[in-house]
Amino acid sequence: MIAQGVQHELLLARRMSRLGTETAFEVLNKARELERQGKSVIHLEIGEPDFDTPANVVEAGIDALRKGWTHYSPSAGLPELRKAIAEYVSRTRGVEVSPDEVVVVPGGKPIMFFTMLALIDEGYEVIYPNPGFPIYESMINYVGGKAVPIQLREERDFAMDVDELVPLITERTRLIILNSPQNPTGGVLPRKDVERVARAIGERNILVLSDEIYSRLQFEGEPFSIMQVPGMQDRTILLDGFSKTYAMTGWRIGYGVMRKDLATQITRLMTNSNSCTASFTQMAGVEALRGDQSAVGRMCAEFQHRSEVFVAGLNRIKGFSCHMPKGAFYVFPNITATGWKSKPLADALLEQAGVAALSGTAFGQFGEGYLRFSVANSMENLEKALQRIDQWAKQNL
Ligand SMILES: Cc1ncc(COP(=O)(O)O)c(C=O)c1O
Repeated sequence: MIAQGVQHELLLARRMSRLGTETAFEVLNKARELERQGKSVIHLEIGEPDFDTPANVVEAGIDALRKGWTHYSPSAGLPELRKAIAEYVSRTRGVEVSPDEVVVVPGGKPIMFFTMLALIDEGYEVIYPNPGFPIYESMINYVGGKAVPIQLREERDFAMDVDELVPLITERTRLIILNSPQNPTGGVLPRKDVERVARAIGERNILVLSDEIYSRLQFEGEPFSIMQVPGMQDRTILLDGFSKTYAMTGWRIGYGVMRKDLATQITRLMTNSNSCTASFTQMAGVEALRGDQSAVGRMCAEFQHRSEVFVAGLNRIKGFSCHMPKGAFYVFPNITATGWKSKPLADALLEQAGVAALSGTAFGQFGEGYLRFSVANSMENLEKALQRIDQWAKQNL
């Protein structure tokens, strides 16, 4: 007899206790709850463009649905899209990339997940930027690797200090993560520093996960990928995608570019998890890469303009001081002069001022002393948020 109504304990795998999260989604939920209670909240927490996906891309997606692109595709992606990505990466990074070095996945994130699963065994070390995108640390810990943070410092405009990187590299280092332009700081790693990172790696068998998802949202100068450094292409896993560049976060499409033998392994992980990325989404991706690019430039210019306005506004508020980011759509003010810690300040701004931002600590221990605001919101809302923060600061600081 099986006893009825017994509530069995949930026995989770140990590794689940090591999994982190992306706080943006939690803050979003909290903000929505406040809105349900009738409070007004300006959403500067979530990292996604507020623009619509460009019309030509939407049309290509609809057309693909009508034409029956509604079935499985090969796990690594449709040949047409892999070819378009290979051409795009070859053109933008000045390296020779072939379609069999491309794996299409549902968003940029799965490339992080799959890279760690494929490369990192227990005890291997992964060096990653901190403050940085929280999923890096989460995934390193999840697979049992050792997460080795490299602190990004405000006085260097949040560009990694390569002199600090060198002593972190050990016999057990398997992977170094780079991200430029960077989330959450808007920092950019200049070409000379990228080259110095490559020199620091030297002949070692260390791979680099180069997260270039914001590469088309760099305000000045050309982005420079470590893939472009002679000798580094085979040791680079380039992560890029469509979410930020083409305002396609909800379509779920991204890709990795890597040596062919690794691409085969990452494809096996795709077969074991998602099977493939949605076929009509991939067809829209072909149009995104090959079609009119004017929307990208417009969005980038707008993000730069909004960042300038928001940074200037924050710098007028008591206790806040902020550098102009060099790319992406985040501003990352120093709030130490408020006398508040980051998390309580973010909570107070949400609950008392109606402005949703993220604590710098959502991006790791070295994010203490900072907040992250996304400027992917209208200028009107950004101005309103500045007024609310200013008023709150006048009353509380
Ligand atoms: C640095 C960085 N890499 C990757 C991603 C993942 O993007 P996607 O939505 O394509 O998975 C994000 C999204 O916020 C990001 O900030």
